[in-house]
Amino acid sequence: MSASDTDVSKVSILGSESIILGFHLTDYIVRDVINNIPASNYVLITDTNLAPLYLDKYVETLEQVLETSNKTARIFTRVLPPGELTKSRKTKDDIEDWLLSNAVTRDTCFLAMGGGVIGDLVGFIAATFMRGVPFVQIPTTLLAMVDSSIGGKTAIDTPAGKNLIGAFWQPKRIFMDLIFLKTLPEREFANGMAEVIKTAAIWSEPDFVKLENGVEAIKQAVLNSDPTNSSDDEYDYVLQGAKLETRTPEQNLLLDVILASAGVKAHVVTEDEREGGLRGLLNFGHSIGHGIEALVSPLLLHGECVSIGCVKEAELSRNLGHLNPVSVGRLARCLASYGLPISLDEKKVKDRIGNLYCHVDDIMQVMKVDKKNQGDKKRIVLLAKIGQTLEPRASVVADTDIEKVLAPEQLVLPVTESPNGPKKTVELTTPGSKSISNRALLIAALGQGTVRVKNLLHSDDTQFMLAALQDLGAADFEWEDNGETLIVHGGGGKLRVPNKEIYVGNAGTASRFLTTVLTMIQSANENPHAILTGNARMKQRPIAPLLTALKANGAQINSIEKEGFLPIAVTPNGGFKGGRIELAASISSQYVSSILLCAPYAVEPVELVLTGGQVISQPYIDMTIAMMESFGAHVERLPNNTYRIQQTVYQNPSDYVVESDASSATYPLALAAITGTTCTVTSIGSSSLQGDATFAINVLRPMGCKVVQTETSTTVTGPPIGQLRPLPSIDMETMTDAFLTASVLAAVTSPQQAGAENITRITGIANQRVKECNRIAAMVHELTKFGVKASELPDGIQITGRAIKDLKAPKEGVHCYDDHRIAMSFSVLASVVPNGTIVQEKKCVEKTWPTWWDDLERKLGVRLNGVDQGKRLSELDHSGSQKVVRRTSTMDHSKSIVIIGMRGVGKTTLGQHAAEVLGFQFVDIDHYFEATLKTSVFDFINTWGWEQFRIKEAEALRAVLAKDSPYGRNYVVSCGGGIVETPESRQILKEHVRAGGKVLHLVRDLDQVIQYLNRDKTRPMFGEDMVTVWNRRRSWYREVCNYEFVAYAEGLTDDGWVAPTEWVAIKKDLTRFLYFISGRQTNHVDTNPARVGLPTTFVSLTMKDLRKTVDRLEEICEGADAVELRVDLLEQPTDEPSSSSSSSSYIEYVGEQLSILRRHIDLPVIYTVRSKSQAGAFSDYDENGMFELLSWGARWGCEYIDMETIWSSTAIESLIANKGQSLILASWHDLLRQTPWDSKAIQVKYDLAERYGDLIKLVGVAESMQDNMALETFRTSRSGGKPLIAINMGAAGQLSRVINDCLTPITHAALPHKAAPGQLSLAEIYRARHLIGLLPAKKFWLIGTPIQHSMSPTLHNTGFDVLGLPHHYGLLECHMVEYAEEALLQDESFGGASVTIPHKVAVMKYLDEVTENAKVIGAVNTISVRYVNQNGVKVRKLVGENTDYLGIMRRVQPLMLDPNNPPEQGLVIGSGGTARAGLYALYKMGIRKIYLWNRTVAKAYELKKQFDTLMDVHVLDSLDDQTSIEPGVIVSTVPADSGILLPDHLYGGIRGIICDMAYKPRRTKLLLQAERKGWSCVEGIEVLISQGVAQFEIWTGKHAPVQKIEHQVLKKYEL
Ligand SMILES: NC(=O)c1ccc[n+]([C@@H]2O[C@H](COP(=O)([O-])OP(=O)(O)OC[C@H]3O[C@@H](n4cnc5c(N)ncnc54)[C@H](O)[C@@H]3O)[C@@H](O)[C@H]2O)c1
Ligand SMILES: [Zn+2]
Repeated sequence: MSASDTDVSKVSILGSESIILGFHLTDYIVRDVINNIPASNYVLITDTNLAPLYLDKYVETLEQVLETSNKTARIFTRVLPPGELTKSRKTKDDIEDWLLSNAVTRDTCFLAMGGGVIGDLVGFIAATFMRGVPFVQIPTTLLAMVDSSIGGKTAIDTPAGKNLIGAFWQPKRIFMDLIFLKTLPEREFANGMAEVIKTAAIWSEPDFVKLENGVEAIKQAVLNSDPTNSSDDEYDYVLQGAKLETRTPEQNLLLDVILASAGVKAHVVTEDEREGGLRGLLNFGHSIGHGIEALVSPLLLHGECVSIGCVKEAELSRNLGHLNPVSVGRLARCLASYGLPISLDEKKVKDRIGNLYCHVDDIMQVMKVDKKNQGDKKRIVLLAKIGQTLEPRASVVADTDIEKVLAPEQLVLPVTESPNGPKKTVELTTPGSKSISNRALLIAALGQGTVRVKNLLHSDDTQFMLAALQDLGAADFEWEDNGETLIVHGGGGKLRVPNKEIYVGNAGTASRFLTTVLTMIQSANENPHAILTGNARMKQRPIAPLLTALKANGAQINSIEKEGFLPIAVTPNGGFKGGRIELAASISSQYVSSILLCAPYAVEPVELVLTGGQVISQPYIDMTIAMMESFGAHVERLPNNTYRIQQTVYQNPSDYVVESDASSATYPLALAAITGTTCTVTSIGSSSLQGDATFAINVLRPMGCKVVQTETSTTVTGPPIGQLRPLPSIDMETMTDAFLTASVLAAVTSPQQAGAENITRITGIANQRVKECNRIAAMVHELTKFGVKASELPDGIQITGRAIKDLKAPKEGVHCYDDHRIAMSFSVLASVVPNGTIVQEKKCVEKTWPTWWDDLERKLGVRLNGVDQGKRLSELDHSGSQKVVRRTSTMDHSKSIVIIGMRGVGKTTLGQHAAEVLGFQFVDIDHYFEATLKTSVFDFINTWGWEQFRIKEAEALRAVLAKDSPYGRNYVVSCGGGIVETPESRQILKEHVRAGGKVLHLVRDLDQVIQYLNRDKTRPMFGEDMVTVWNRRRSWYREVCNYEFVAYAEGLTDDGWVAPTEWVAIKKDLTRFLYFISGRQTNHVDTNPARVGLPTTFVSLTMKDLRKTVDRLEEICEGADAVELRVDLLEQPTDEPSSSSSSSSYIEYVGEQLSILRRHIDLPVIYTVRSKSQAGAFSDYDENGMFELLSWGARWGCEYIDMETIWSSTAIESLIANKGQSLILASWHDLLRQTPWDSKAIQVKYDLAERYGDLIKLVGVAESMQDNMALETFRTSRSGGKPLIAINMGAAGQLSRVINDCLTPITHAALPHKAAPGQLSLAEIYRARHLIGLLPAKKFWLIGTPIQHSMSPTLHNTGFDVLGLPHHYGLLECHMVEYAEEALLQDESFGGASVTIPHKVAVMKYLDEVTENAKVIGAVNTISVRYVNQNGVKVRKLVGENTDYLGIMRRVQPLMLDPNNPPEQGLVIGSGGTARAGLYALYKMGIRKIYLWNRTVAKAYELKKQFDTLMDVHVLDSLDDQTSIEPGVIVSTVPADSGILLPDHLYGGIRGIICDMAYKPRRTKLLLQAERKGWSCVEGIEVLISQGVAQFEIWTGKHAPVQKIEHQVLKKYEL
């Protein structure tokens, strides 16, 4: 393809046509650049998100074009990390140095391919490189296209702020290839749309209309391809849109819209290159937007803040009287329709910013430093109407006006205290009724002639209706008076099939009315049918009765997705038939109105019969009929709910005023009543059919007002203030919504005669208990706050009037329960309450009267002030932060555990093991089934078939898990593999989980399972292959389980079995898992700041695949207290490249990785999925995927789950609710330096993390040592709180990693790379801590004699060395323990000692404490030092322990098949000190029958006596075959030179484990003998090492690097 095959559009800027737009421009761009910007070096810079998608293509094309045009040039490419952090001095330096080192000269052209970050950075580099070289912008985000690439502003960020260093440097060309937008994340697209909409709003109404109407088309043009799926094929061959003739209408619209927006920016820049007045216009939405952005960035994007800013600034203009409300509504709706937020109160926004509160004063504070301000007035762009600003520059606005718009609450001041008093007479039109607006629109469009419709309600409903009627070609519409009047040129009922779907969002009325309208279309055109659809919520709202009636009438309607719901397709077949139509009208009166409204246009006169008993909402049907009549159509009412309608065409009058919403009208009328003034509401009068229209006559008049009502207007004059009269009893059943208005008036009544009853009783309003809130209770509560006596009646409310002067506004204000009617009625009351009343949540009025506050102030003359009672940033302090009670579902650990999983995964074997571990019983559902039905499963299936079996199986499951079932507690219940096949069973399992039970999914590698099952030909197969079965079931297993255990086996034996040693390992893993999930042993790190062994650390694994590095795992983890699995860094080695992060096979991969890790490492696991914006690799836009993955961390029983606090509170809370025993590590990584340690913002982050986390992790970026100082101050201020990990990234931040002492992330030399810049190894941290005085070097000793050949110095010094500890272990040889006294008691640097013969007992006199173990054994072999706080004084204590028994246990236990199930009998030989340790070790391992033999029997008896209180020791007089004992474990403690051997019969019964404490030679005669008998052997040297390792761990509080210690000790031993 050549460049001439591409059609482009051009925009001129600064006198040259250098902005070029089109689709698929790669070729075009490259040719244009090479031909018109000749250079010897082309430097293309982009980011890592874009490079994989586009870079190769560009480089290839560059090379090709150079070659074909016979030019030579060097091509350099550079791929930078995405994100704002890249716009730094550092990146600029790096790139410059790189180019200079490559001898790149002046003869260079830069190509910036990326978003604003790349554009700004590369532009600035080009501006200063060799004093300025040409550059080209290839913007790839919408924001960059319409904004940052145009205008020549380039910049980088510094710690002091964004964009502070930069230059004006115009690009030679700006190429906008709109194809880039296809891969842009949706949120980023919306981000750019904010600027597009902003520009249209200030510049051009027609452009704005295109945006309003083009939402679907524009989204379709860009967002129809999933970035992960965009294949090369698509890119290469489908060059749709490159040529004009291949462009879709959607592409044309997209281009049009971007062209227009870029055009405006280019024009403004051309007129005003260096920022004067005109360019300032583009700042619309940015003044307030920036104020917000400064507080919430980076949680909200720039465009999102600007979007909110635009709405606020438009409201400001409306408030000041420059902009009409319709325009504000249009702007807000347009922004929202592109997915942008329009208020800080939206759930979507709250989810993003968490509990961060944007106080008005904080926003104002930021705005104060805007360079465009004038004193205490600010400059803000004010809109005059859509497409036009008030002045050709930003306007000056007073602070108080801005505050009023921003404030969440309204202070309403009493008119009595106003200098001018209340306005004596007012006249106004209140907002149109929604029901009437929709009907009027439809009738006028179907009618004949032109009508000016006034007072139309502008809401989503009417907006969708209007758009649909336009698409149907029903009528032509025009706006007049700035959108206040709608002119409808009726089409007389002619309709066409629209060329796109009709979308009605969640607008109920529009969807129902339009359904019948579609059947009116006579015939198809190029489009075969008309489609009506809505949003997800709409698609769940039923319209079946209407569809049934219309179909029975001959209409051809098909539900596209679900029968009886939207979307529907209507195929024209001659129009609406008419005749007799039966309709069930008990669900919605809108069905009835829908048919009635279209009935005059039917082919035959319609006779509509309503069936199904009670007709709902008759008044709305009456309203429809009345309106039809006023447009000239007659509806005849026949008995039995039947209506007859003659054919006709609606005749449009020249003007039609939509009647006001009668409930809304009560507020201004009540205001006149309470303030003694006169108010006329036009557009509602006696002819109204709305019940609330009688409010003036039936309520206000009896209360003492003068009421004059014409057919279409109502005028009320109140009595002098304070003279409203109570209504002893009034039934408001026909106007229930108006009872709130009546209630506030009742609060200020006075009786006609003094002393008479002053009570108003309102009844007939019971339905108001179930409105937006319980309105009766709410009114009672809020009125009481004013000191008014009020109480509830069975179906109403009773209020005692009170003198106005005695009313007291509640200090914190009126709470509105998010109910517009409460807000409006209390603002009526507030207009007389002394000193002013705060009305909270002022925005809630927008539901029916968006401009209520403006109207109250400007039209009704009530003064208002903005108030914000929320907390300012500066007030937020640690202690004051709200504590939120976290909801965690409570587990009932005694509830039975249900085991599910595929056949062959080991449900029985592992299930039985689980039962043993937990002390539960085991039951198999199949057995239960067979026992209760008295038949075998096999026979049952043969007789009854699978379906019946599944039903009975579900019944069995239900019975087993029933509340009163004996199996309900303390059982492990194993299920058949197919249990998840039926929804019933799945439901039962889910209920079990919900009730606090556990459903454990067992998985194994599928190939292994198949291999295993195939081994056994006797077991019947399903006839269905395993892979298919697994693929069908796996999502079900996952859906119902709350735990999953991956039984990982490295391989199988040749005959398909799991090797016994692997089973042992799997069982061990399962034991750990069960201990964890049942809360018995949670393996969490002790983070107590007083513990031995600070700092605690965790090592971050950065490999892509642990399988490749299993051999090094132990080394990598040495010294660490926990290990972090960085899930986001794992890379599934797969042949299905499209597999997304949350796909099933990916989850299986992660699960396997985790089980491999656990197989090799006992440390607690921190399960982390780090997102890109938080320095990780996981997508920032896939919250669902993120939390899906995190929830697996909990299911797999990870000890910790790292959860970023940036995600939505809904997602976070649901994770926490299901976390089980896992602890949440709530983390925040401040890559952009938005939250310095001394800022208020970091407190907010801390509070957020504190709220959700069990531990808190805050990570900053340090650029100087000062940043670490600030961190330490912060850390100190938080001491005593939850465990806090606080560190700075970057080389400058290393000090913080040295000081942090709770779970510092560390790296290890054997890892492929560090997880974060500046990360240190444990050894590095120790060395640094030593140097700065946090870790003094200690001396350790071996005390005893003879000790010259001891292995201990090698052992301990190796350990110290490997971990990087500065300590030293030496020999202190002495015959008398007193020689060691000085070392033990005097030397401050004493760290601990090993004690050996002959001082193990004598040394006790120096000790402050001896452990239970040492007491029982009667000897001390280890001394450690503890510091305790006694009355504020740090006191040193020496503690004695014995680790000899531990040495035995640690070696013997792992050799047992099942340590939970130790052998019955054990034997100890000898009776010296070591024998004592042997006895104790056997006892500790749970061996209950312990025999003792010694050559001198008497000594054995003596020893037995000493142990008598603890255990039963059986002394053997001889070992000959008379003694029929079967020991499973033998410990020999006699010296090697004794040459002892044991009689054969002792090895008889079982293959046991023997441990010989003598260790010269390594394999003693005794061990050799036992080995020949098939016993497992433990060598004395091994025990020696293990007891030493145990000492090491007591002293250091760390896991010893066992492998390396062992290696060194054995090396020395061999010497
Ligand atoms: N110079 C100016 O006049 C001006 C004006 C406005 C904004 N800015 C600057 O622009 C920057 C913001 O620009 P931005 O919003 O374009 O952000 P950005 O450059 O950070 O891009 C946003 C994200 O989208 C990704 N991305 C970009 N194009 C993509 C594509 N086609 N497909 C998939 N992913 C894609 C990027 O990798 C990045 O992760 C800020 O630094 C701001 O200061 C400058
Ligand atoms: Zn902007």
